[in-house]
Amino acid sequence: MAIVIINPKGVEPWIDALKQVDSSIDIRTFPNDTSREDITFALTWRHPYGIFKDYPNLKCISSMGAGVDHLLRDEELPHHVPITRLVDPYLAQDMAEFALALVMNHLRDLNAFKLKQIQSIWKPAGYQRIKDVTIGVMGVGAIGSRVAGELMKSGFKVIGWARSPKEDEKFSVYVGVREIADFLQQAQILICILPLTPQTKRILNKDVFKLLPKDAYIINVGRGEHLAEEDLLEFISQGHLSGAALDVFTEEPLPALSSLWKHPRINITPHIASLTDPQSVAPQIVENYHRAMEGRPLLNLVSRERGY
Ligand code: GLV
Repeated sequence: MAIVIINPKGVEPWIDALKQVDSSIDIRTFPNDTSREDITFALTWRHPYGIFKDYPNLKCISSMGAGVDHLLRDEELPHHVPITRLVDPYLAQDMAEFALALVMNHLRDLNAFKLKQIQSIWKPAGYQRIKDVTIGVMGVGAIGSRVAGELMKSGFKVIGWARSPKEDEKFSVYVGVREIADFLQQAQILICILPLTPQTKRILNKDVFKLLPKDAYIINVGRGEHLAEEDLLEFISQGHLSGAALDVFTEEPLPALSSLWKHPRINITPHIASLTDPQSVAPQIVENYHRAMEGRPLLNLVSRERGY
């Protein structure tokens, strides 16, 4: 029985965090894990596709983040092994704080003042008040509902959109294709925090943009593949959208030649909206490891059919 950590970005903080929770766990790291038949649990982020067939005794594959699209894209992912994801208050809170920062940056147009500062230009300009702004949050799962809640605490009117009805939310949640137009028509700022599935791929496209109010602003902190980039550029250049903040891209790092880099109305950040903190999530990973070894129900189990 052993855990393998597969993470091209580095394994040391993960080993330390898991060992602090349970020093007895045998932890191996890919690709130096030679006896793969010992491995019963994989903790992974962007693994090389096809490798899981070399692990005959896996009882659980855990994503190192909230998303599992990188896992489900592997056509050779073993069908019998359950997949889990991480649900963590810091992941949700960090996302909420980042979304608030982007929204306020947009409302106060701080980028424009920075550009003027570089040219020593003193030129006051007006701004929108929080109380006059409705934000639409697409995807109101563990992270999205926290984002919505924090924005509401700051005084925004918030509405949500989800695939299936949500109970107990303090804001209106519009559901499915049937209600998406009602949702979009009100969203002056649209935040995408959806999971990436075949249904949500390129969901941020011209059909959605044209339903948004004039001057709407797009924030994509979901996945790059949610966005039809060419539609975004077209709707910004037509003046229907006022701009966008993008933290995720189809190809990461964003290629140097991408026209997004230099676009004056687009803010780029390198997928840093919300980073998994190994110390914070280690207890749930260790808990799931023990559950998997003992055949007990797993926490944060992913539905392959839903895709999240
Ligand atoms: C980050 O993108 C995650 O899925 O946690």
